[in-house]
Amino acid sequence: MGKKLSLEDQPWCIDKATGKLVINKGVENVCIDKSTICYIDGFHSKLYYRGYSIEELAQKSTYEEVVYLLLYDKLPNKRELTDFSGWMSEERDIPREIDELLCRMPRDVEPMEVLRTATSYLGNLDPGRHDTSRDGMFRKTIRLVAKIPTIIAHWHRIRNNQPVVDPDPRLAHAENFLYMMHCEKPDQLSAKAMDVSFILLAEHEMNASAFTAVVIASTLSDYYSAIVGAIGALRGPLHGYANVAAMRQFEEIGSPDNVEKWYKENILTGKKRVMGAGHRVYKTYDPRAKIFRDYARQFADKVGGKVKDFYEIASKLEDFVMRELCEARNICTNCDFWSGIVYYAMNIPIDLYCTLFVASRTIGWSAHILEYIADNRIIRPRLYYDGEIDKEYIPIEKR
Ligand SMILES: CC(C)(COP(=O)(O)OP(=O)(O)OC[C@H]1O[C@@H](n2cnc3c(N)ncnc32)[C@H](O)[C@@H]1OP(=O)(O)O)[C@@H](O)C(=O)NCCC(=O)NCCS
Repeated sequence: MGKKLSLEDQPWCIDKATGKLVINKGVENVCIDKSTICYIDGFHSKLYYRGYSIEELAQKSTYEEVVYLLLYDKLPNKRELTDFSGWMSEERDIPREIDELLCRMPRDVEPMEVLRTATSYLGNLDPGRHDTSRDGMFRKTIRLVAKIPTIIAHWHRIRNNQPVVDPDPRLAHAENFLYMMHCEKPDQLSAKAMDVSFILLAEHEMNASAFTAVVIASTLSDYYSAIVGAIGALRGPLHGYANVAAMRQFEEIGSPDNVEKWYKENILTGKKRVMGAGHRVYKTYDPRAKIFRDYARQFADKVGGKVKDFYEIASKLEDFVMRELCEARNICTNCDFWSGIVYYAMNIPIDLYCTLFVASRTIGWSAHILEYIADNRIIRPRLYYDGEIDKEYIPIEKR
């Protein structure tokens, strides 16, 4: 028998106002730093990157412009954007060694795990990997933001025994991604939807993956380790992988006529959560979901078939969520509920959707790493120790 500690022994766990134990489980509402990157107003469905509303950026901007904005904290002028887009497109090629690695990987490996490994290897191959100067960090950021879509597209083609498609420097970032996936230039709606999707998922404040990146960077570890860690965090279905899980859920439901039965059997009984619903910060509708939903509707009208089926299943399920979960408990549908249908309409296989999230979000993670380490302090929270101390150590033969 050992001895239990009292609350007074652990003063860092005491709320000064009430004198009681305080635990911020899930680090909920804990503010870890000042930032100028992103603001979310989760009560009024608002999201801003560097002060610009997501609606306006999605409508008027391009992904290249948003990457510039997040990195340099200003909108580029025409010349700056042309130079910057040129820089991004020059960086799209991936080293031969990465293609060789992809060719050696088992075809059934989860794409997020493939991307994690390839990103780590890309770091090994970067001669400037330990350059922590600001310029060096910017260079590494552009390198990764530009190359990750190529890795995803090449993996898609390699696992389907198709020849890889080299990036086309004449095409914009999103358009080029679809070109490398399918070996043909996308139509206008797909090119725009892909660009918007990159914009919508580029950044989202101190979520689990950004926090992971910043925790790693705060130890003065290297940039690639921080991004690889963030990819690992995003891969969970409570975070970025929810876009894959949402599509699997629509597949399981199977038809709009089955939504009510499925909802009653799985959600009302508490057996499952609605994937693509609920959010730590949004207590109303996610503004990104609205934009994704609009594109999903446009594709459903244009393409029909399975895209329309998914759209109808999702719409019906969303009605239940909004009526029952959102009204009563502020659990509303989020961007991951709708984004997959947009990707599906662009002929992208479902298991790749979380990797598309990585392709968008690497810039947001990088902006947070840069901002945090500019005024670094190692991140080191505490726990409340609920066990015993001073236990008697009994020799193994007497246990
Ligand atoms: C996003 C998420 C992890 C946020 O979690 P959180 O803020 O820690 O909220 P909690 O997990 O503590 O859930 C709070 C309550 O809401 C319920 N809830 C949360 N999300 C739910 C969902 N999608 N469907 C049904 N119920 C849900 C929980 O069951 C819990 O109920 P309880 O109080 O009766 O136990 C959570 O909403 C979730 O699991 N969503 C589904 C996955 C998803 O879409 N993730 C992408 C987010 S962008």
